[in-house]
Amino acid sequence: MQTLKDLIDSCTIIIWIASALHAAINFGQYPYGGYMPNHPTVSRQLMPEPDSKDYELLKTDPDKVFLKTIMPRLQMLLGVVVTEILSRHTSDEIYLGQRDTPVWTKDKEALAAFERFGKELGGVERKIMEMNGDEKWKNRVGPTKLPYTLLYPTSEEGLTGRGIPNSTSI
Ligand SMILES: [Fe+2]
Repeated sequence: MQTLKDLIDSCTIIIWIASALHAAINFGQYPYGGYMPNHPTVSRQLMPEPDSKDYELLKTDPDKVFLKTIMPRLQMLLGVVVTEILSRHTSDEIYLGQRDTPVWTKDKEALAAFERFGKELGGVERKIMEMNGDEKWKNRVGPTKLPYTLLYPTSEEGLTGRGIPNSTSI
C-alpha cells in the first residue's frame, strides 16, 4: 500500500467481506436450505436408465426414487442442525454500526463518522424494504412473496434470516 486511499480501500474490502458479504451468505443457509429438497445435495445413485426397474418406478412413484438418491437420515439431520446453528444470532450479537461500549474512543471525528455510518445503515434497511415492496423487482415480489432480508443490518436473537454482525468468528 502506498497511499491513504489504498489503506481505505483495503479496510473497506475487509469490513465488507467480514460483515455484509458474510451475512448475506451465512444467515440464509437455514431459511433457504434447511429444508433438504430446497438445496442440492450429493446424489447417492445414478439417474435411472431407461428400461430399468427404477426407471419404471420413477414414472409411477417419483418421490420414492428421489428419496433413494438423497443422503441417509442421520447425516441429513446433522447437516440440518449445523445449518440451523450457523444461521442463528446469539443474544449478545453486536451488529454492524453498533458498539457494546458507547464511548469506544475519545476521537470526536471517529465518533461522528461512526454515527454517520450507523445512520447510513438505517437508510440501507429502509431502501431494501422499499425494494421488497416494489413489484418491478420480480426476484423480490415473485409468486412466493418472500422478501429479501439478508442485508437488513439489524436483527433480533435467533433464526431471523437478517442482521449483519459487526464481526464474524467462523
Ligand atoms: Fe460464517
